[in-house]
Amino acid sequence: MKRAKIIGVGAYAPRRVLTNPELEKMVATSDEWIVQRTGIRERRIADPSEATSDLAVKAGLQALAVAETHGSEVDLVVVATCTPDHVMPSTASIVQNRLGATGAGAMDVNAACAGFVYALNMAAGLIESGRAKTVLVIGADELSIYLNWKDRNTCILFGDGAGAVLLKAGDEPGIMSSTMGSDGSGAGLLTIPGGGSRFRMSANGKKPVGQYLTMNGSQVFRWATQMMTGAAEQVIASSGLNLEEIDLFIPHQANMRIIESTAKRLGLAPDKVFANVDRYGNTSAASIPIALCEALDKGLIKVGDNVVLTSFGAGLSWAAVALRWSAEIPERLSPWVPFRQTFETRVAAVRSALRRQQRRVGTVIDETLHRDS
Ligand code: COA
Repeated sequence: MKRAKIIGVGAYAPRRVLTNPELEKMVATSDEWIVQRTGIRERRIADPSEATSDLAVKAGLQALAVAETHGSEVDLVVVATCTPDHVMPSTASIVQNRLGATGAGAMDVNAACAGFVYALNMAAGLIESGRAKTVLVIGADELSIYLNWKDRNTCILFGDGAGAVLLKAGDEPGIMSSTMGSDGSGAGLLTIPGGGSRFRMSANGKKPVGQYLTMNGSQVFRWATQMMTGAAEQVIASSGLNLEEIDLFIPHQANMRIIESTAKRLGLAPDKVFANVDRYGNTSAASIPIALCEALDKGLIKVGDNVVLTSFGAGLSWAAVALRWSAEIPERLSPWVPFRQTFETRVAAVRSALRRQQRRVGTVIDETLHRDS
């Protein structure tokens, strides 16, 4: 059986930094409260011109560059997101086209903040079964567009971003074990209720219903600490490892208190736990791949290390993975990479425009022939 291993990683966070002191001017909160209760100091907010796919493409290109792989070699693009560009088509199709991944299938996975680990697990399964060889998994979200900036319970927590990994078939693990779970009885605890088929337009047909993210913070907090511990223990045990053999634990970056409490319950030393929630807040499906990239940049993961990823989110849903790190990530990419990728993405854009044109011409020819016959 083939095994799935990560051979490239990438991350992108929008430039705009929103700090706690700035939030103090927008809502009744304080830097002190936010830092004490969440550990968050700042977060990134996407420009209105930046859609989720724009962030995803940037992270995806970086993962491809690190792995020295061209988009055309990818079999499947999966974008984990709960804030897609549109209800349809999938954000993944938009990303696939822009990356020039012409031989790839594309789909979105929505498991909210747990989406990236769900998608990673699914991609690993496709590789292990031989149905795919190279899969690009991206976690990208812009929850900022669903935040009510007058609701201090939620608006302080979230930020925007994207992270990606390129998975390839190999003989050694790789992804060693995984778990996925859901408890829909908690669906109302963290939700953006509008925009789907349950709550439609209001009577005048204009005002969308329930467009804001709402959350029962304390209940989500309690559930998350218990669940993160259980999921981590499960994947560690099923990979045949014990706790002492875990080199780095990368939990979903939602709240520093949840991260610390989980680490304590697991009995992990603080230096084995990665956190960057202070600088990004909760970036939903992007949180774990962004953290993975930063941990690699900081030299915290070496070839042969055992790493555990644990995520949780709306659903309620959760997923965890234990993996053995096997890729040498180059410290610096070749200076030609940006030029090559700019060229390749322009070629992809031209190809895309030609295809659209070809379809238009094809339709005109068909209609003309049909009229004449
Ligand atoms: N600034 C100042 N005060 C705030 C505040 C803010 N941003 N948000 C809430 N408060 C107030 C509350 O109104 C409450 O005041 P009261 O005692 O006068 O009623 C007090 O602080 C305590 O509120 P509480 O909700 O009990 O705080 P908490 O310690 O549970 O922290 C969260 C709130 C949201 C930070 C915390 O519950 C949490 O992180 N939950 C998990 C959320 C999460 O991770 N969601 C994403 C999952 S993917």
